[in-house]
Amino acid sequence: MRSFDVSDCHVLVIGSGGAGVRAAIEASPHGETVLLSKTLTGKGGCTTMAEGGYNAVLRAQDSSTCHFEDTMKGGAFLNDPALVSALVDEAPARVSDLLRWGAVFDVNDSAEVAQRPFGGQRFPRTCYAGDRTGHEMIRTLTEHLATTNVNVVEEVAAISLLSGNGRVCGAAGLDQKGELRLFSADATVLATGGGTRVYDVSTNSSSGTGDGYAMAYEAGATLIDMEQVQFHPTGAVYPYDARGRLVTEAVRGEGGVLRNGAGERFMARYDPDRMELSTRDVVARAIATEVQEGRGTPRGGVWLDVTHLPPEVIEARLPVMLEQFLKFGVDIRSEPMEVAPTAHHLMGGVQISPSAATCLPGLFACGEVAGGVHGANRLGGNALADTQVFGRRAGDSAGRSEKRVVQIDRAQVEVIETRLNRLYEGECDPANVRRTLQQAMWHNVGIFRTEEGLKLALAEVCSLSNLQLKARTALQLAECRTVQNMCTTASLIVRAALLRPESRGAHVRRDITQNWDATSSPYGHTFISTAREGIDVRGSAT
Ligand code: FUM
Repeated sequence: MRSFDVSDCHVLVIGSGGAGVRAAIEASPHGETVLLSKTLTGKGGCTTMAEGGYNAVLRAQDSSTCHFEDTMKGGAFLNDPALVSALVDEAPARVSDLLRWGAVFDVNDSAEVAQRPFGGQRFPRTCYAGDRTGHEMIRTLTEHLATTNVNVVEEVAAISLLSGNGRVCGAAGLDQKGELRLFSADATVLATGGGTRVYDVSTNSSSGTGDGYAMAYEAGATLIDMEQVQFHPTGAVYPYDARGRLVTEAVRGEGGVLRNGAGERFMARYDPDRMELSTRDVVARAIATEVQEGRGTPRGGVWLDVTHLPPEVIEARLPVMLEQFLKFGVDIRSEPMEVAPTAHHLMGGVQISPSAATCLPGLFACGEVAGGVHGANRLGGNALADTQVFGRRAGDSAGRSEKRVVQIDRAQVEVIETRLNRLYEGECDPANVRRTLQQAMWHNVGIFRTEEGLKLALAEVCSLSNLQLKARTALQLAECRTVQNMCTTASLIVRAALLRPESRGAHVRRDITQNWDATSSPYGHTFISTAREGIDVRGSAT
């Protein structure tokens, strides 16, 4: 085997979205920290695209108990209560960190951080910076990162975790020239974000390809509740190229109403109490039902209308929406937006403890790649809080890891190299495989599911996974690895969906009739690892 340069560090953080940058900031005082980014720091990932806000208890009239209960109920009680406690207890302090580091959030007339209502919450606890909250957070975090000693390595895509002596001890990556780069570390933090790009219509940036789920699975970690895919109720329907782009929940938080093709405010049929501010699973299903039953708009969506709001409110609170729709030829001050559900967030992921440790020694996970915080349905505004609370926890735990002499297992690197070299000999265009995969997932593993559809999807995913992808140049190696990761992530989602024999939160099985609701469900987490897979059943050991 040829020799490789190995970069040694104490903590390796993979992923440069909100969770990864927060983890790197926290780890850095403990020792040499490398932040590995497959794009430019802060430019990829989903944090920068998150629009509506960040949930935190900031007022005396609100309470962490109320935030905890809303999150558990919204998550159909599949959430890990210890993770939810950490989220709600620490979200306010993590907002304070951001403000101290220079974040500019909107304020109310009393100069306090302003908060708006979001779905499924009994108190308006979503802090925001207009409708570009994630962007403001990433701007702040990357500026603060620049004041630390973190070594930022950009445009290197992590492709495999490395192990040795029973521990994860770093990662292998591919740089822009297709060269293998090795990183050895005492502790590794996976903060690679989500994977809803495995669907044809998604809010995720092009980097949401599930790399972290695939790497963790291949390294032996346990993933839980991968069947729980959040379809955001409101993605753009038109123009075609913008299909699925996020139309923030803040539009409904500010008073936007949903109407079907006949002009009827249909949420009264699905959740008359909470209407448009019901939880996302309910609103997404309501929209999908209206469209499937022939009450949609001509292009297969519904109308989202803010024309009754004063134009100055729209201009001040929803400036990105205003600008985005003006580019589409729609002035939302006088015309409704056309919207439909879009794949948005994976609630499941790598199982973690409250200190963000995975079952693999040396590996920590935070942000969307980690599972358990949001249960079967995430509340809008809880993801940005999650990035900061668990990013800090993961960075702190990784930073406190023992320093050791890390030996990279050369045989493992040889396997990685052989696998890459084989890509030059393949015959399938990765772009075609990606497209076929996205269609199969969209049509068979969407908002409404059946065993028959899931089995069809699984067969398709398996056959796509077995195709020999072709890299024409070294530059295409990373693309091929990405498509392989997408196939692995899709397979985890479909297998988990087949493991859960009930409708719960975002996972709805149309072919199953059940006589229980979430509070009395006999089922707990689905779990998948290379060693075993199944579902926790109340009262029985797994
Ligand atoms: O609708 C939104 O602005 C998205 C927020 C979130 O997913 O938390």
